[in-house]
Amino acid sequence: MTVSLHPSLPSLPSSLPGDPGALSRLLDGAGTDGPSVWPRSARPEAGGDVSVGGVSLTEAADRFGTPLYVLDEQEVRERCRTYRAAFPQADVVYAAKAFLCRAMAHWVREEGLGLDVCSAGELALAVTTGFPPEKIVLHGNAKSPEDLRTALRLGVGVIVVDSASEIARLAAITPADARQQVMVRVVPGIAAGGHAKVRTGTDDQKFGLSITDGSAQHAVARILDQRHLELVGLHCHIGSQIGSVKPYVTAVRRLVGLLARIREQHGVVLPRLNIGGGHAIAYRPGEPSLDVGVLADRVRTELADGCARAHLPLPLLMLEPGRAIAGPAGVAVYHVLAVKRTGEHTFVAVDGGMSDNPRPALYGVRYAPRLIGRHSSAPPRTVTVVGRHCEAGDVLADEVELPGDVRPGDLLAVPAAGAYHLSMASGYNLVGRPPVVAVSGGIARVLVRRESLDDMTRRDVGL
Ligand SMILES: Cc1ncc(COP(=O)(O)O)c(C=O)c1O
Repeated sequence: MTVSLHPSLPSLPSSLPGDPGALSRLLDGAGTDGPSVWPRSARPEAGGDVSVGGVSLTEAADRFGTPLYVLDEQEVRERCRTYRAAFPQADVVYAAKAFLCRAMAHWVREEGLGLDVCSAGELALAVTTGFPPEKIVLHGNAKSPEDLRTALRLGVGVIVVDSASEIARLAAITPADARQQVMVRVVPGIAAGGHAKVRTGTDDQKFGLSITDGSAQHAVARILDQRHLELVGLHCHIGSQIGSVKPYVTAVRRLVGLLARIREQHGVVLPRLNIGGGHAIAYRPGEPSLDVGVLADRVRTELADGCARAHLPLPLLMLEPGRAIAGPAGVAVYHVLAVKRTGEHTFVAVDGGMSDNPRPALYGVRYAPRLIGRHSSAPPRTVTVVGRHCEAGDVLADEVELPGDVRPGDLLAVPAAGAYHLSMASGYNLVGRPPVVAVSGGIARVLVRRESLDDMTRRDVGL
């Protein structure tokens, strides 16, 4: 469905896009001067409204209902372009786990990115939507037989091997006349990432094969022995929400060291090096995000120096950003259903929660919701924005400031909501997952419709 909402929104002074501080001050409040956490197209509008992609959020909430996820198509595309421009010689692969739907697959493909998938489901959605399978990388620490069979049947470009047992399983089902390209997911022994639960570069966790205990080297040797597998490189993904380039530089150094040892031991020069994703974005005004340009410079320099020292040719660099492409393009919109003042807290309960955004409950992530749709002159009050689910831990935004007169019927918008919300959404309490509406040039179109009671009951086939 395509609906034109408010196509002639008043526009702000043309100098604004060049002054991210100005946008931040207008949308995030006085005293916030850094880059805004809102999509670049976001504009404050009359009556306390905010528009994204030229579409009024209050009108969108009216038409499509809440909870609602709005995705700014141009923001996604521009973020893809930023990566392509910063890494012109590299293969940039969008990590579909951050958020995938058919439109998203089209956009990233049109912008020249590949795709990283983690299951037969993500893979089939991408391929049936026309995504070239050879541009797809399959990941997973525990790939099911169905994942591997689907990958071989659809002809994915690369399968990233994550365990020793996977090597034999994969070799056994690869057709006799085929040679599947694979990489080894290496654990380089680096602690990085915004929370213990998303640190995947350290030894002793479920992902990858360690350099320290030799399992990465062992996997390399086993793959080189398999006629039906072609080892094309090393991969690592050291964690998520990483705000500094230093861990990536260290990872490159360690992986180049391993490339050199592989050449010494096996006489094989591997042509690719994949450094995963994990680039931090700002969820609240003032939070740092990873600078993609700085990352590109430092990684390129380390790779060139390391390869020169080891007398290795430069491998093709690959990277897999997910959150940094989808996250800042999304805005979640909720209606307030109840406001409760207890002894110490004010709870503002909205019509969504942990079923559409489990991240605060999982990792204690903090967001910056904003009242939209009316102006309030009430002094701010510190409140806890909670969801509607049957868990005391169903908190969307702890200790945030909202106008003191926030009340049922108000609309709250949460920026930086495009990644790891709906892709991690659940069926808890059977409330139905929210729709995703793309906005661009004043047009709103539904990409994913709201999950209906009918959708949910259709799966329930027993008596
Ligand atoms: C192998 C791999 N690549 C890329 C990503 C994307 O990470 P991010 O969305 O933080 O960029 C992940 C995230 O879990 C991952 O596991």
